[in-house]
Amino acid sequence: MRKMPDAKAPIGVIDAGLGGYTVVKELQKILPKEDIIFFGDGKNQPYGNRTEEDILHLTHQCLDFLKERKVKAVAIACNTISTLIDKYQPDYDFRIFSIVQAGSNDVVALGLKEVGVLSTVFTAKTGCYARLIHEKAPNIAVYAQGCPKLARIIEDGGFDQQRINTELTETLGQLAAAHPTLDSLILGCTHYPMVSENIQALYPQFTRLINPAATQAQAIADYLKAENALNVDGEGSFRVYTTSDCEFYRSMTKHVGLKTPICVELVPAPTPL
Ligand code: DGL
Repeated sequence: MRKMPDAKAPIGVIDAGLGGYTVVKELQKILPKEDIIFFGDGKNQPYGNRTEEDILHLTHQCLDFLKERKVKAVAIACNTISTLIDKYQPDYDFRIFSIVQAGSNDVVALGLKEVGVLSTVFTAKTGCYARLIHEKAPNIAVYAQGCPKLARIIEDGGFDQQRINTELTETLGQLAAAHPTLDSLILGCTHYPMVSENIQALYPQFTRLINPAATQAQAIADYLKAENALNVDGEGSFRVYTTSDCEFYRSMTKHVGLKTPICVELVPAPTPL
């Protein structure tokens, strides 16, 4: 049974790493008074090369962490985890928001004829973007392209330009070659907005890069407003919990342009199967 969200409670944000910071940025922009708890499982990243059973097992542990902290709603700021939302939402009494749903809504709202989706291998294999887009607009052609290494390269830090560009060439290069007139691309992994300049420089044919983060943040704002659960006089605090490198996670809050977190804490990693 869904519980009424408590206005004073924090919003939880989960990612299999720090890509979810791109969603925190949008939440902080439109909901500056909300307290945000970020959980990034950098130790087990990439989730996108794991099995469905393993991803679900890890996700339950991430969500249990936020449940203990009494969140009023959760943004799954990870496309890979979002593809499985129907399998874990019933286990929790707070509302959970999928970034794949947000990205699919963006594509439908733009009225595109065709769109590419650059994502992890798991997200591509599920066909989740095509399924959700076709529920509302069956005629939009959706071309999925998985990247086995890109999220991990970003998570490793240092923004190694050669590794990033090689991975993009080997993956996005295939999509671009197969569809030379395709101009719209969903950044279907929350790490990828961090390398959008590389994408634009290598493949200028993609004149429209769709980052679903703003739409996901807006969906949460709309929900809280409808439930009368917006925190109107909160401090807008930001707490980061990571299973990997605290200093890196702290420095990336600056790099992405987030509020200064009141803590960046190392916590035990969820155990994989
Ligand atoms: N940011 C995650 C996503 O949006 C990365 C997934 C991974 O760990 O492979 O899919």
